[in-house]
Amino acid sequence: MPTTRLRVCAESELAAGTGRRVLVQPGWEIGVFRTREGALHAIDNACPHAGAPLHNGPIVGGDVVCPLHLWSFSLTTGKCTLFEGPEVEVYPIEVDAGYIYVLLEEEDADE
Ligand code: FES
Repeated sequence: MPTTRLRVCAESELAAGTGRRVLVQPGWEIGVFRTREGALHAIDNACPHAGAPLHNGPIVGGDVVCPLHLWSFSLTTGKCTLFEGPEVEVYPIEVDAGYIYVLLEEEDADE
């Protein structure tokens, strides 16, 4: 399936232990994170509980903690790590020529 590359930022603009958001289209943001160990991850930015922006939450190990009510989500699987059920979509990510990209299937981008 064709893939769209969504440019996030220069690699140097995302420090270890931080997140930032990128707008896909109105009403849809993806949160992009770099763990303290340097791994990059991309997940839907809206918390499934009440919609808080996950990119503002602290990164603890391989999880991000929602800043509003502290639900925690695995950056690898998108699943809530506190209890079963809630999860966010996870997207592939790549670095090319010093820039970070999120990869979206064209089907995703049309939603
Ligand atoms: S909005 Fe994220 S835990 Fe409530």
